[in-house]
Amino acid sequence: MLATYARHDVTFVRGEGSWLFDADGVRYLDLLAGIAVVGLGHCHPAPLAAAERQLHALWHVSNLFWTEPMQQLAARLSERFGGAGAFFCNSGAEAVEASIKWARKATGRPGLVALERSFHGRTLGALAVTGQPAKRAAFEPLVPGASFARANDVASLAAAVGDDTAAILLEPIQGEGGIHPLSPEFLEAARSLADERGALLVLDEIQSGTGRTGSFFAWEQLGVRPDAVTLAKGLANGLPIGCLLVSDAAPAGLEPGDHGSTFGGNPVACAAACAVCDELTPALLENVRERGEQLALGLAGLPAVTEVRGRGLLLAAELDRPAAEVLEEALRHGLVVGSAGERVLRLTPPLTLTSDEAAQGLALLGEILA
Ligand SMILES: Cc1ncc(COP(=O)(O)O)c(C=O)c1O
Repeated sequence: MLATYARHDVTFVRGEGSWLFDADGVRYLDLLAGIAVVGLGHCHPAPLAAAERQLHALWHVSNLFWTEPMQQLAARLSERFGGAGAFFCNSGAEAVEASIKWARKATGRPGLVALERSFHGRTLGALAVTGQPAKRAAFEPLVPGASFARANDVASLAAAVGDDTAAILLEPIQGEGGIHPLSPEFLEAARSLADERGALLVLDEIQSGTGRTGSFFAWEQLGVRPDAVTLAKGLANGLPIGCLLVSDAAPAGLEPGDHGSTFGGNPVACAAACAVCDELTPALLENVRERGEQLALGLAGLPAVTEVRGRGLLLAAELDRPAAEVLEEALRHGLVVGSAGERVLRLTPPLTLTSDEAAQGLALLGEILA
């Protein structure tokens, strides 16, 4: 393995719901879910059965042909969005790349406005719109045309958006940057600026989407309708998938030959994703909101926590100490949590987390932070 990750010294061999088991048989409560991916919990029977059925039927035919799972998934996502077309790929970064190409083609403009502290992926295009200089510096020059505004600062956004802007690209809740929600007023201003200046509004819901904040898309709770959305992470409960969804009301832009992906729309991943969509019922989304409130309230009362941010089950606790130490100590206590910055603890548990499991997690964190 090349050294792109500083891995913890644990090898997981099995997962079941909100629980993971390591090679020594030790059990861990998983409040990270593969960084906001395994939304239905490990080995959830619905995507498991759907993927298994598809594995016995058809694995791959290329995008020269139709398959049923890709059409069924596109229909489900279009219905959730309220009318949209889908491009399927295999990861979040690829979905962001697709959004950049779509926005440039649809507007004939090169400019991309993103936010400081944003994260959109590691490929050169996605990195070009990622507002974190430390992640970019070693890889310059990146794709040209990107500029950055400050989150929740309307004047800064207005100054960045011009006549050459193809797209404003925003995470409704900045995830890797530390779980910083955008205010409804800022999102509304972004929508108005895009409309006034002929740009497209793209929301990167790779982390905040697929039910994580208590609605299928985070934008549903924020009163702003984007021209396009990117999804990935939780869409197939852990099988690789990415998606660019373009509103039927927005310019289509892409034509045959403009973009593609050998594995995009893979039947097994799409079959699992259809099952995920079907499982994201109003009752499950209510559980996300309730467990989110339970965890946020509990976190706020813990020692060492100075601030709690986020929505639903996309949560962060700002700490008075380095998060890395807490993550290691948590593993020793049989708890998996994440970080999103030097002193930021990140919780992105399965959306199926029970009230008992949330209470167990809070009790363990209380011991660890004491
Ligand atoms: C908001 C957002 N966009 C894009 C990405 C990149 O996704 P991937 O790692 O699947 O390329 C991530 C991953 O963390 C993300 O959180």
